[in-house]
Amino acid sequence: MSDIRFDDRVVVVTGAGNGLGRAYALEFGSRGAKVVVNDLGGSSFGEGSDQRIADVVVDEIKAGGGEAAANYDSVTDGEKIVQTALDAFGRVDVVINNAGILRDKTFHKMSEEDWNLIYDVHVRGTFKVTHAAWPLMREQNYGRILFTTSAAGVYGNFGQTNYSMAKLGQLGMAQTLALEGRSKNICVNTIAPIAGSRLTETVMPKELVDALRPEFVVPLVVKLCDENSTETCGLYEVGAGFIAKLRWERTQGKTFSIAEGFTAEDVLDAWDEIIDFTDATHPSNITEANTAIMTNLKSAAS
Ligand SMILES: NC(=O)c1ccc[n+]([C@@H]2O[C@H](COP(=O)([O-])OP(=O)(O)OC[C@H]3O[C@@H](n4cnc5c(N)ncnc54)[C@H](O)[C@@H]3O)[C@@H](O)[C@H]2O)c1
Repeated sequence: MSDIRFDDRVVVVTGAGNGLGRAYALEFGSRGAKVVVNDLGGSSFGEGSDQRIADVVVDEIKAGGGEAAANYDSVTDGEKIVQTALDAFGRVDVVINNAGILRDKTFHKMSEEDWNLIYDVHVRGTFKVTHAAWPLMREQNYGRILFTTSAAGVYGNFGQTNYSMAKLGQLGMAQTLALEGRSKNICVNTIAPIAGSRLTETVMPKELVDALRPEFVVPLVVKLCDENSTETCGLYEVGAGFIAKLRWERTQGKTFSIAEGFTAEDVLDAWDEIIDFTDATHPSNITEANTAIMTNLKSAAS
């Protein structure tokens, strides 16, 4: 098995000063990449800034013999982060959208500021960084992009309506970008990681935070960003050595005759069938997903 290398590749990691981002940045640096270490250096609540956070990681990469440049902007100024990559290294090959904060509150206590700030960092910030890198990747006919969602988005999590919204927003963005990037050799994937970090230390006991090392997420990230990997449009759960791919599942469903009409009572009568996951299907694109609907429309018209 050959080593996965990133020699002459430029990797931008957002939020690379702590936790998962730092672990990614160090690994890419050790595998020959030129790394842009972006971090605003604020609190996990989204307040303040500190340039030293990114500088420390840059120094660590350089101490290990790697190449790195720091960027201290917020991801909401994504074009500046990409500009740092261009100024320092002349290109962008990989973007790891990782920066994140939390503003956990139950919905009835959540302010509009809590909602907007989470949207800004996770959704608008990810858009800004990716949107700045996208034309460069299209032009060079090559790119690897990673988005970071969360189990909170996929399954829901008490007290995280804002975060769940933003994290699933990233997945939606990734799924469509994967389609748009396919012809330009741009692969786009999404991970839902779990790791001990300052984000999780408020909700997990210390032993769990210490045990769930960010390093356990790194191998999947490196694999997905490998130039030889053609995997795209995927969603993965990853943490503590467990890696699995996730997809949508749909029941066989029930088709009603739209020519004859159907009522809420008909839906009630068919309810067990509608929600029965026996022989479930797994539509993998919008055409497949809409086939049953289009078929029923056609049969009504004929
Ligand atoms: N740790 C987990 O279990 C877990 C689970 C699901 C998703 N995630 C996601 O993984 C990512 C990394 O989380 P982590 O646990 O390593 O957290 P972390 O707090 O250790 O690291 C996040 C980094 O992002 C930086 N950052 C925050 N806002 C920024 C901004 N506007 N611009 C630039 N940098 C900014 C922070 O300064 C911090 O260094 C986040 O997107 C998080 O939502 C983490």
